[in-house]
Amino acid sequence: MRLDPKDLSDLEVYKLLIGLVTPRPIAFVTTLSETGTVNAAPFSFFNVVCDDPPMLSIAVGRKDGGECKDTSRNIRNSGEFVIHVTEEKLIEQINHCSCPYPPNISEVERAGLHTIPSEKIKVPRVGECSVAMECKLHQILELGNGPAYDLIIGEVVCFHVDDRMIENGRIKVEELSPVARLAGTEYTKLGDRFSLDRPKYTGDRSV
Ligand SMILES: Cc1cc2nc3c(=O)[nH]c(=O)nc-3n(C[C@H](O)[C@H](O)[C@H](O)COP(=O)(O)O)c2cc1C
Repeated sequence: MRLDPKDLSDLEVYKLLIGLVTPRPIAFVTTLSETGTVNAAPFSFFNVVCDDPPMLSIAVGRKDGGECKDTSRNIRNSGEFVIHVTEEKLIEQINHCSCPYPPNISEVERAGLHTIPSEKIKVPRVGECSVAMECKLHQILELGNGPAYDLIIGEVVCFHVDDRMIENGRIKVEELSPVARLAGTEYTKLGDRFSLDRPKYTGDRSV
């Protein structure tokens, strides 16, 4: 089947994208409002975009009418946020945090989670999470019609990793048990793993 996005509705394009780009890691993001409320929400348009310095991106959609979601507005105002890895043990609580509560209600509290202070930024992190990455805003790119999305790029200024999840600098991913998003309300856990050596270019043939 051949599909031209120009012939499709916004919803049809969205469904294609989230069905085709899978599995997507899920950033669980905390931010701080101007009045001091800790906001938290999951975002699966999430990835690493640089390692020198370390940088991560999340893409936050605009609401109907173009208004920013709380996460995006708070990051614009404070220039700081924390990204946690979404783990199997916390998926129910993190999903709960996607509820569109008004800005003065903390999703963290409503989900039964607890915050602890960060080290280098004012935005607190979630104590129950095994991994937290404190980020300072690097750049926001407004993308699409409206704009439709804010692509937020942050520099990681501090990594927090539970001692049980790391050995000789390598993350024990099976201990961490990250959850990824598929389309709609479907998620996936880590599946079978396998190893594959990278080919080396030897001049006339690859080995
Ligand atoms: C697993 C999951 C992934 C999500 N990924 C995104 C995303 O990448 N971008 C986005 O704008 N919303 C995403 N959402 C929806 C937001 O979490 C939701 O709009 C939330 O209310 C935003 O919170 P805020 O208004 O406090 O910023 C996702 C929801 C779930 C459950």
